[in-house]
Formats: sequence, C-alpha cells, structure tokens
Amino acid sequence: MSRNERSLTVGDLRRMKASGERIAALTAYDATFSRLMDQAGVDLILVGDSLGMVIQGHESTLPVTLDQMVYHGACVSHGSQRALRVIDMPFLSYSTSKQALESAQRLIQQGSAHVVKLEGGRERLEVVSALVREGIPVCGHLGLLPQSYLKLGGYPVQGRSSEDAKHLLEDARLMEDAGVSMMVLECIPSRLAGEITSSLAVPTIGIGAGPDCDGQVLVSYDLLGCSLNTPSFCFDFLAGEGSVFDAFHRYVQAVKSGSFPTDAHGFK
Ligand code: KIV
Repeated sequence: MSRNERSLTVGDLRRMKASGERIAALTAYDATFSRLMDQAGVDLILVGDSLGMVIQGHESTLPVTLDQMVYHGACVSHGSQRALRVIDMPFLSYSTSKQALESAQRLIQQGSAHVVKLEGGRERLEVVSALVREGIPVCGHLGLLPQSYLKLGGYPVQGRSSEDAKHLLEDARLMEDAGVSMMVLECIPSRLAGEITSSLAVPTIGIGAGPDCDGQVLVSYDLLGCSLNTPSFCFDFLAGEGSVFDAFHRYVQAVKSGSFPTDAHGFK
C-alpha cells in the first residue's frame, strides 16, 4: 500500500459484514509487528491493554496506564497504514463521560487511534453516547471483561446460563443503539455469539466466541505460540511456517476462508 492510500474505516468494516467478508484482527504493541500485520492483510490492529500481560508480565490488564496506551498506540501507528487502529481505554480511564473524553482525546491526538475500545454493557451507555456525540468511533467489548478480573476472580467463560445470555444480548443491542461502531465478544458460547452477531448491524469481532462472529481477533503472542498460558481457543499459526510474517499471513487466510475459528475454538 502506498503512503497515499487511506486506512480502512469503521464504514469499511460495516460493509465487510454486509457482504459477508470476514474481518481479520490481531493485537499489536509496536511498529515492527504492526508493519508485518499490515503487509499480511490484517484489517484491524488492536493496541490491546493485554500488553499488561504479554509485554509487561503482569497477571492482569489492571496496572496498564493511559500514558502506556498512548505510547504503544504511537509505536503501532508508525508501522501500520492500511489497518484500522483500535486502542483500548485502560482500567479506570473512562469512569465518567468527562474522563472518557479526555482519555479518548489523548489516545487519538497522541496515540493515533482511529477507534477507542471500552469494556462493559448498559453501565457504559452514557459514556458511549458522549464519545459518539463528539464524533469518536467506539468499539464495545462484551462477555469476559479482563478489566473486571478482581471481581470475576479470574477469566471465566461468560453467558452460560440463559439469564446471563439474555442479559448479554440486551447489552449488545443497547450498545448498538448508543452508537458503538463494532463490538468485541470475548469468551462466550459460540451459539450466543452467533445470535448477537445476527441481531446487530455493526460487526462483531470474536475471541473465544466460535466461528459465527463477523471477524476474529487474537492476542498476537498467543497466535505465535509464545505466551505463558495460551488459551484453548487459540492455534499456533507459526508452527511449520518460515517466519512471523508467514504466520500472520496464514492467520489472515484462515479467518477470511472461514477455516479458523471452528467449533473447536469456542465454548458450548
Ligand atoms: O486487550 C486485548 O488484547 C483485548 C483482546 C483480548 C480482545 O481486549
């Protein structure tokens, strides 16, 4: 892609959903990996607060600061050109609308975010509306919420009871009504992820959510087989490949063709 070509937009991703083209997404935290991902055809790069675990070595995302997200966002922006850049708003950086607007301003102006991502459902509607009113695209995140690690006591699969599933489906609809441009669905039963996906106009990006989302995201270190605790829904795309670029390319092909994820990469 030449310097003059534009990055993908939230509208492009929405059109991909409408036309049935799957969205291939990965996390990145630096310029080199984001350049390789961009060249491999990754559509969306998430500067995830998972960097607290895979870069910083913490057991959760809670210690990650806004300054660190800004820094890694800027690094990623120097490598990627075509991919849509989504940056996580870290723990306690969006508790009120005012704080969320200030945090988003830094992520966009200094971190070069195209979209900001936040965790939670109905309790976030006011914050989402405030961001969207200012023209800021927002990615929601439902299901397993890593920033609620202390409350959850770990990383359990969500939405397994019919009551929880109903609550999540309602949250997804409310978040769409509030204006989110897309939604990450993490660690929920595949059937529920499929139901949420078909009831929304905005794209869903799954992780541990089975084959029926509009796109897929993985933590890049998991896909390269070098995380300490690789989740069961992941696959080592580097095994048998010659380079990190080949692994990213293989991942993009697998997501686009629908050969990853399968039912084996989700929960019942
Ligand atoms: O921080 C992150 O990498 C994420 C993904 C797990 C979706 O939010």
